[in-house]
Amino acid sequence: MPTNFEILPSNQPIADEIRDNILKNPGFGKHFTDHMAHVRWTVDADWHGHQVRPYGPLTLDPAASVLHYGQEIFEGIKAYRHADGSIWTFRPEKNAERFRRSARRLALPELSDEDFIGSLKALLAQDQAWVPTPASASDECSLYLRPFMIASEAFLGVRPAHEVDYYVIASPAAAYFKGGIAPVSIWLSSNYKRAAPGGTGFAKCGGNYAASLAAQKEAEAHQCGQVAFLDAAENKWVEELGGMNLFFVFKDGRLVTPRLTDTILEGVTRNSVLTLAKDEGLTPEERAISIDEWREGAASGEITEVFACGTAAVITPVGELVTENERIKLAAGGNNEIAMRIRTKLLDLQYGRSEDKYGWLTQLV
Ligand SMILES: Cc1ncc(COP(=O)(O)O)c(C=O)c1O
Repeated sequence: MPTNFEILPSNQPIADEIRDNILKNPGFGKHFTDHMAHVRWTVDADWHGHQVRPYGPLTLDPAASVLHYGQEIFEGIKAYRHADGSIWTFRPEKNAERFRRSARRLALPELSDEDFIGSLKALLAQDQAWVPTPASASDECSLYLRPFMIASEAFLGVRPAHEVDYYVIASPAAAYFKGGIAPVSIWLSSNYKRAAPGGTGFAKCGGNYAASLAAQKEAEAHQCGQVAFLDAAENKWVEELGGMNLFFVFKDGRLVTPRLTDTILEGVTRNSVLTLAKDEGLTPEERAISIDEWREGAASGEITEVFACGTAAVITPVGELVTENERIKLAAGGNNEIAMRIRTKLLDLQYGRSEDKYGWLTQLV
């Protein structure tokens, strides 16, 4: 049964011409639509009060536990406008499932698929004009959707909150890479770890990203756009980037990605790439891959491509891995042919330009 969201329309929506101007050059995460979805949870009343209401500042008690103990989780998913004007999203049930996994780890209440997907549909019904229209097949614009859940109870004791709020906000997004896709340089963090066994690495919680920012600053100081993390126990196994999963293409057609552990976030894009790779005649392998294997495979030509993947940037070729004392570059390859082929396949699916043979699309509007 779909949940009914009460609609409280904004009486101050952004004027059409201002919105159209924003949509011409939205950047990422800078502009927000006219509304947000909201559902409240309390220990006594469970989930209730489903609403779509005007976008605006939240009123939080200064004692709200999210502000002190970081009891918070979020998701990232996009809405794509197809050529006929309809609006779709990609595998939202995977995000809903991950949101529940994150909720369990952060001792937050679990939200059903109906409420998660229902909140996206209810918000998009109001704010569909904010979904940009791609000018061409290479125009990767979308509406980025950000569901999140916070512990809002005013209480300073350290225990799971008895009052929680779930929201969805939305922000128009331009293609992640302007003017074509260039391989990125990645910084290998040696001073900082992102996640440890038994910790929260597999959950999408704000604390993981707060903990990655010092490493991200180091990356930027070394002219690298992203940071890669090794495992915390042995400092040997490649895990993932601050916000993307990693893949390695081998000369013999194997496509290797680190196997999932409790220190790696399971990406929806990662999961989709593993499926699409088989269609491309590749042999996917989920297993541990060490930094030595990366270094040696890159030098010998055994590894021909490295790429990162995630909702925001889809698939990004990795040009080099930079450390304090070395630069690991691929001796062979450089054309990133396989990364680009899978990238195109994924985008064609998401924008409705190819047959949705896996049933991965859900219509929002
Ligand atoms: C740490 C981390 N790993 C991987 C991903 C990729 O996940 P997805 O493909 O679901 O966007 C993300 C982005 O959400 C992330 O933040």
